[in-house]
Amino acid sequence: MNPDIDPSDPAARAAALRARIEDANHRYHQLDAPDITDAQYDALVRELEALEAAHPHLAVADSPTRKVGAAPAGRFAPVVHAVPMLSLGNAFSDPEAPPGEDPDKDVRDFVRRIRDRLDLDEPVFCAEPKLDGLAISLRYEDGVFVQGATRGDGATGEDVTANLRTIAVIPHTLHGGGWPKVLEVRGEVYMARADFERWNEHARLHGGKVLANPRNGAAGSLRQIDPALTAQRPLSFFAYGVGLVEGGALPPSHSATLAQLRLWGFPVSDLATVVHGVDGLLAYYRRIGQARDGLPFDIDGVVYKLDDHAGQREMGFVSRAPRWAIAHKFPAQEQTTVVESIEVNVGRTGAVTPWALMQPVQVGGVTVTRATLHNADHVARLDVRDGDTVIVRRAGDVIPEVVQVVLDQRRPGAQPWSMPRACPVCGAELVREEGAAVWRCSGELSCPAQRVQSVFHFASRRAMDIDGLGERYIESLSASGYLRDVSDLYRLTLDDLLEMKRRADEAGGAAPDVLVKGGAKAGKVATKWAENLVTAIDRSRDTTLARFLFALGIEHVGESTAKALAHWFGDLELIRRLPWPLFKRVPDIGGEVARAIGHFLDQPGNQQVIDRLLEHGVRIGDAHAPDPALADGLDLATLLADLEIPKVTAIRAAQLGSAFADAQALLDAPAHNLVTAGLPAETANALVAWLEDAANADLLLRSAQAQSQLRARLPARVERPAGPLEGRTVVLTGTLSSMGRDEARERLEALGAKAAGSVSKKTGFVVAGAEAGSKLAKAEELGIEIWDEARLLAFLEQHR
Ligand code: IVH
Repeated sequence: MNPDIDPSDPAARAAALRARIEDANHRYHQLDAPDITDAQYDALVRELEALEAAHPHLAVADSPTRKVGAAPAGRFAPVVHAVPMLSLGNAFSDPEAPPGEDPDKDVRDFVRRIRDRLDLDEPVFCAEPKLDGLAISLRYEDGVFVQGATRGDGATGEDVTANLRTIAVIPHTLHGGGWPKVLEVRGEVYMARADFERWNEHARLHGGKVLANPRNGAAGSLRQIDPALTAQRPLSFFAYGVGLVEGGALPPSHSATLAQLRLWGFPVSDLATVVHGVDGLLAYYRRIGQARDGLPFDIDGVVYKLDDHAGQREMGFVSRAPRWAIAHKFPAQEQTTVVESIEVNVGRTGAVTPWALMQPVQVGGVTVTRATLHNADHVARLDVRDGDTVIVRRAGDVIPEVVQVVLDQRRPGAQPWSMPRACPVCGAELVREEGAAVWRCSGELSCPAQRVQSVFHFASRRAMDIDGLGERYIESLSASGYLRDVSDLYRLTLDDLLEMKRRADEAGGAAPDVLVKGGAKAGKVATKWAENLVTAIDRSRDTTLARFLFALGIEHVGESTAKALAHWFGDLELIRRLPWPLFKRVPDIGGEVARAIGHFLDQPGNQQVIDRLLEHGVRIGDAHAPDPALADGLDLATLLADLEIPKVTAIRAAQLGSAFADAQALLDAPAHNLVTAGLPAETANALVAWLEDAANADLLLRSAQAQSQLRARLPARVERPAGPLEGRTVVLTGTLSSMGRDEARERLEALGAKAAGSVSKKTGFVVAGAEAGSKLAKAEELGIEIWDEARLLAFLEQHR
């Protein structure tokens, strides 16, 4: 792994290992640009530790095995930690341990050391997820946040107070009471996966800074000189311990301390729990390991801490880590491997995605051979080339991706990659809209790849749910001309399918296995397959609006967006005629998604496909009236804000909304009237310029018209009998595990509550699920009643 380090001379090797580790520390902590993976780093440290143990004279005092991290870089004022911020020893489990060898030896040794020293039968531990972010220390004096610092080298960190103040979940003042006069809370700043993905997706499309992984994202964000930049980054925080405590006392155990921190207003992971003995630890490790991919944040292991503080004190520390705690690591989520080739794939919307095909490598416990390179700009930014050694990351359900090239391992003569000019599937030209990051195949539905992918998606289980229509069948049907678009599915007859089989047989080999099998049974197998498929297609005709919308394969419209559209508008005929700004009336649909829906519906070809689907008997069984709550956003001010007109902010839009009777009046108004309406000249000019474009004026009028048509279709808000929550406003935030937020909202509304999107003094109570962020913090700040999921469920159960 490190060819530059001479294995035969222990002193030289230790020196080289030290230099390599120091360099890696510097890159990781100061530059936020590591060039080796965590697993490689751990291996270097373990090797140096082993060398130092075998040759004690090599263990110099300033060896990185005795230090934590790296000294601060000097960008921020230094903060000397009153209680040092330590590191943790690591334990690993070896899934490939030979029979007879204990795969969990590290953990068993850890527990044995504690049992022996404290003379305990079965020590009690607090087990927690090991978050993959950046350690920080928060100092509170008399309950007020006064200073926050990074870990630095463990003794001295950097003062990042201003940046930490921008993180909504970090309390500015403590809640409740009984806190020590001086309290240092220790924890991890991290970036949730969804926030990281969203950030990167935006950055990739708009040329912003793409973050290599959530941890680098968190670290880089906290070390911005301008706190306004930190404020833009979606950061979160979990508390996992304390440092200095003066003028007061904490509970006698770690778990009780975490509970107390929660009461004072700190987010503490719900996954922290008390377990007993080795078996408890290993069961926890397995449980969290299984849950790992589905967690909303990256973890690189779990941490076991002896729960009892007195026991902790007795165990004490070795040079840089406590003896009472250990990190039990999971398989790494990043690994290095070699790119064998870069290829492109054509998706159902024609978007061309470059992929790296790589030498197989285990990442996060799964063998990975392909990783996405997202788009051509991303390849250029990373400068990935054939034969390069790269760092691959796989986290959660996200597709593995190449995050970095290890440049010093590049082969001489490797050439930069460029996007092919023609579609690898249909040969049509690849084109790129101006300013867009994505290249597309211009072949549209004449491109078999797009056709096959769009039919495959249409038929998938969560869309129209047509069982038995695999990708290879679709390919054959498309190749023999039976499928030009998804609506052709509903014209397929038994004879068509058998004819397709006959042709495929003749062509030989290109058809699905089941169809080309020779022998007496083949005919029967094919007939049965064809009959089943015809039945499945027929059955799929009766569907729901959400499934139908999802099945269309509109860019950015996943299942949850499709459900939201169906819920809010209720009717396909209404939806298919809406101009894009109206889609922004659905909570959680922003400009990008709204435009994508509008773009799809603007294509006559797509409207024709919808017509044909309906003609061929597709029936949407759950059409209903639009949600009456839409009424609140069907006015000129909202429309002007939704149209994303340059310089027309929500405040300006509101001014215009009250100054003009309707869109036509605004269009007819001479420019100076806009200034009279209170608009600054600059905004008025921008609006006039925007309206001068006929397409914009048309969009404004069509949208205003759609607003009034929609308003006319809204049912009256139903007067419910007074429920137990009558008159109370609820805000839902975070993720609930037992139901979606929409469902929770509906059930609370059914009991009389009024749902709102943001927390204010008027909020009655807040339902906070996992990963609740700024809304929860605001509620806590305002002292508003907070319900966790358990309380919500209990209440709903009681009022069924
Ligand atoms: S306790 C004295 N608990 O892991 C014990 N650390 O390798 C100090 N970390 O610097 C740390 N989650 O950045 C602790 N639940 C957790 C943790 C955790 C993540 C990080 C932290 C620390 C590093 C040690």
